[in-house]
Amino acid sequence: MSNYHIKNLEEYFQVYRKSIRDPESFWEEIAEENFLWRKRWDKVLEYDLSKPEFSWYKGAKLNITENCIDRHIYGRGDKTAIIFEPNDPSEKAEHISYNQLHERVCKFANVLLDHGVKKGDRVCIYLPMIPELPVSLLACARIGAIHSVVFAGFSSTALHTRINDSDCKIVITSDGSYRGGKTIDLKGIVDEALESCPGVKTVLVVKRINSEISMKPNRDKWLQPLLDEANNTCVPEIMDAEDPLFILYTSGSTGKPKGIVHTTAGYMVYTAYTFKNVFQYRENDVFWCTADIGWITGHSYIVYGALANGATTVLFEGIPSYPDFGRFWEVIQKHKVNQFYTAPTAIRALAKERLDFSGNYDLSSLKILGSVGEPINEEAWHWYNDNIGKKNCPIVDTWWQTETAGIMISPIPYSTPTIPTYATLPLPGVQPALMDENGDELKGNLVSGRLCLKFPWPGMARTIWGNHDRFRETYFSTFKDFYFTGDGALRDSTGYYRITGRVDDVIIVSGHNLGTAPIEDAINEHPAVSESAIVGFPHDVKGNALYGFIILKETGEGRVHDNLRKEINQIITEHIGPIAKLDKIQFVTGLPKTRSGKIMRRILRKIAENDTDNLGDISTLLNPECVQEIMDGAV
Ligand code: WT7
Repeated sequence: MSNYHIKNLEEYFQVYRKSIRDPESFWEEIAEENFLWRKRWDKVLEYDLSKPEFSWYKGAKLNITENCIDRHIYGRGDKTAIIFEPNDPSEKAEHISYNQLHERVCKFANVLLDHGVKKGDRVCIYLPMIPELPVSLLACARIGAIHSVVFAGFSSTALHTRINDSDCKIVITSDGSYRGGKTIDLKGIVDEALESCPGVKTVLVVKRINSEISMKPNRDKWLQPLLDEANNTCVPEIMDAEDPLFILYTSGSTGKPKGIVHTTAGYMVYTAYTFKNVFQYRENDVFWCTADIGWITGHSYIVYGALANGATTVLFEGIPSYPDFGRFWEVIQKHKVNQFYTAPTAIRALAKERLDFSGNYDLSSLKILGSVGEPINEEAWHWYNDNIGKKNCPIVDTWWQTETAGIMISPIPYSTPTIPTYATLPLPGVQPALMDENGDELKGNLVSGRLCLKFPWPGMARTIWGNHDRFRETYFSTFKDFYFTGDGALRDSTGYYRITGRVDDVIIVSGHNLGTAPIEDAINEHPAVSESAIVGFPHDVKGNALYGFIILKETGEGRVHDNLRKEINQIITEHIGPIAKLDKIQFVTGLPKTRSGKIMRRILRKIAENDTDNLGDISTLLNPECVQEIMDGAV
């Protein structure tokens, strides 16, 4: 397993060089030595950038759940696979062993089979962070069904769009969910979403909060009685390497959400390899990633990457502020967590609270701290390092995306020296490139540009569900033959990368990726609104918050009635979810536009950031006069 587990900087460079010189033999060796294959591949990598099409481990056959569960049963059967920590700290934590996970996944898979779910069918999963969530992903994978997890904070409209886009046959949900001291009526949201989803024949309902809900006859079924009856073994469906494993939606800068498709073998190899190296996981370590499984971070590092390594992974139902701001630290102490992986927005929120929240707990089990989702600012980095890591735990600032499946640029603990705000160096097999405005690659160090990837890696997304043209257009058309990430980055004098943020119309709010277009579309549905434009502005906890510039249909005084701002945020909540609410709303009479009618967001961004000294050239605008009015009315 020489390539699998990097232990020092010299070894990193050596492995990195090999991975670039001969990517195929690099990824072949890793696949060969660390996984269970039912049939070997014919070819490690085949690709055609003109289509673009990518195939990893072509011809290989496998089932990912055999790799994540079955093979650990011999030797690790009684080892804890999942530690479930409930929302309420007085509810007992649950330890699910690999043996028990096997049984639960098989039973669930049999229930799906009994409801007519077959290989290739899409299954929508809309669940809180309870054991049935990872179990349902694995149950789908067991029988070759394609899961599409929708984050259970999304609204019914968002859920509806995603169910129909991938034509799901079945929805798995719960009666409700806990969020700190509140409950959320998930089943009610599902009922609303399904009002016009003709493809959905069955809804399986997990009982979690014991609320009164209505069950639609012939469609809705309680899950538990079905599980009780189900057989506890299920022969795994043997999949082709390139069979889709799941769809996960992510926001684009325009249009509806993109159903990112990941396939079986490449995804498994990439998430397992990066899990092992970035978190330096050792047998008996306890790994905790605080992300929701509704995002890629949860798919790759709570579920697949962790379990493929036979790890113990924590599944946390709660939030960092309940019952108080000490909860994360209490959970670390309680379960003796060794690797802790969270988002800068959580770190910033916790850093605002009294230090005794963290000081009261024993955090000495921690070895490695991780950060993901947005750039981590220097202050947050130091707070994390000093108060949580006690200057003793390497911080891995991991850059990656839903589309990459796994971590791409990150320090390897004990190998790569860390510097705050730098994601540092590419992992083996990853070939970043920075591009200038003309589409030329910037060679050498001390350059900054648009971040691309110039060579395929096993975890890369293969397509957008039902829209391969959009896949090509979004990722492979800006720079010829390169994958474009949408981010800007700089490379310093030592070759370290620092991610500087999005260069497109995606705004990252509290680590959530939000496209401006869907939010604007929602606002424009309000009967009083004629046009709107959203930009981000810096926020000390969320990273970015949203600022909306809105033109109303009526022009007279008194057009802005008291409730208008509330109503607009209400519409956004209904269409997308509360995460997309606007922090600031300014009503304007015009928006700065180019002669071709495109809104100049650059100017709005400057106004929202209160940086109007340097607005740049506005003389080419169609309506330069509106700029002064917007500046005068800025909130
Ligand atoms: C975008 C991808 C990666 C899983 C969670 C988010 C931003 C992510 C970092 C980081 C700076 C980061 C990028 C990226 N991002 N990690 N360490 N430093 N920016 O996945 O929702 O697909 O968002 O998140 O802008 O493109 P996602």
